[in-house]
Amino acid sequence: MEKELNPFIAAVYKDPSHFCDREKETQQLIEFAENGTNITLFAIRRMGKTGLILRFFNEFLHKKDTICIYIDILSTQNLADFINQLATAIYSKFPKNKQFSKQVLAFIQQFRPTIRFDELSGSPTLSFDIANPIQQQQTIHSLFQFLDNQKMKVVFAIDEFQQILEYPEKNIESILRTYIQQLKNTTFIFCGSNQKMMHEIFNSSKRPFFASCSTLQLDHIPENLYSEFILRKFEENKKTISSECIAFICKWTKLHTFYTQYFCNILFARNKKNNTLDDAYLAALHILKVSEPVFYQYRNLLTDAQWKLLKAIAKAEKLEHPTAKDFIQEHKLGTPSLVTRSLQSLLNKEMIFYNSSVAKPYYEVYDKFLMRWLQMH
Ligand SMILES: Nc1ncnc2c1ncn2[C@@H]1O[C@H](COP(=O)(O)OP(=O)(O)OP(=O)(O)O)[C@@H](O)[C@H]1O
Ligand SMILES: [Mg+2]
Repeated sequence: MEKELNPFIAAVYKDPSHFCDREKETQQLIEFAENGTNITLFAIRRMGKTGLILRFFNEFLHKKDTICIYIDILSTQNLADFINQLATAIYSKFPKNKQFSKQVLAFIQQFRPTIRFDELSGSPTLSFDIANPIQQQQTIHSLFQFLDNQKMKVVFAIDEFQQILEYPEKNIESILRTYIQQLKNTTFIFCGSNQKMMHEIFNSSKRPFFASCSTLQLDHIPENLYSEFILRKFEENKKTISSECIAFICKWTKLHTFYTQYFCNILFARNKKNNTLDDAYLAALHILKVSEPVFYQYRNLLTDAQWKLLKAIAKAEKLEHPTAKDFIQEHKLGTPSLVTRSLQSLLNKEMIFYNSSVAKPYYEVYDKFLMRWLQMH
């Protein structure tokens, strides 16, 4: 294989050869899509939800009977933005010269969109000038129905879906739920980085989306599979990496996907032919050094009590009982009620997460590099 720049991607998804494992999850998504089951994808931040959706879409690249559409609605602030995003995604999906695409274009053009092209990438952005709420809802309905009426399967992924909770319009969940229910050939994947808000939408019995989807919980990639992947990528590029070095990476980043990828990216970028445990130590120190200014900023943004608790959680790595007497005494955290309040703030600020999907639920610091840095200070 030809030498490449850096095989460890810590940004947007590239292709299956740069993607580690997730075979079972990809298969599961295929089955859901084939059965027309809507899915909610849950995982802590930076575990690989978006990557998995794009990896799954890869399976349909050459299948002419399925259209896969992905939208990320993080930047949308209201229903009008949502419609524009939806229409842009549909419009961009089809090459302009095919017969079917002409139908799509003709359909979209009836709403008289303004089409702008990005100066750098040349990619189009559509915007509709529809202010009337009823018309807005009808437009969403028509866009979904139009796709659903083509003689094809449609898989529609909406990423950062929790963003709909920020819209000023209050009935979005029930509108979307109603339209989605009416579709026959379209499967949805809902995904979002804010777990609390996503749980609110899908797991609260009073809300429209309750019990409407199957859930896929994305966990850590098993160590043996990640280790094989790391080894393979180094070897493909004519470099060696010792098993101690790989074991250190997996442990130090706790196999939290983004941090593992980022670590490997930095180690690989050092461009050593043979990578040993000492090289892993140097890469770790480098990462902590360049991240330090951000860590100090975090400290300035937190109260002393929150910072102390964060440090204590980092030292525990996995903390099951934050208000236990021994823990509070050991780290001089004050009263249990102060700990409870600080804990809530740290959760709200997403400095820590609570993993409740295991037999013994625990708290953990989100950013693995911050966790390692706090352990040393
Ligand atoms: N299986 C994988 N193999 C290799 N790289 C991966 C894998 N899964 C994710 N990544 C990479 O890890 C990083 C984080 O993944 P991703 O953005 O998909 O996470 P996420 O769960 O969507 O995060 P967020 O909650 O912030 O939206 C990305 O750079 C992605 O390309
Ligand atoms: Mg994501």
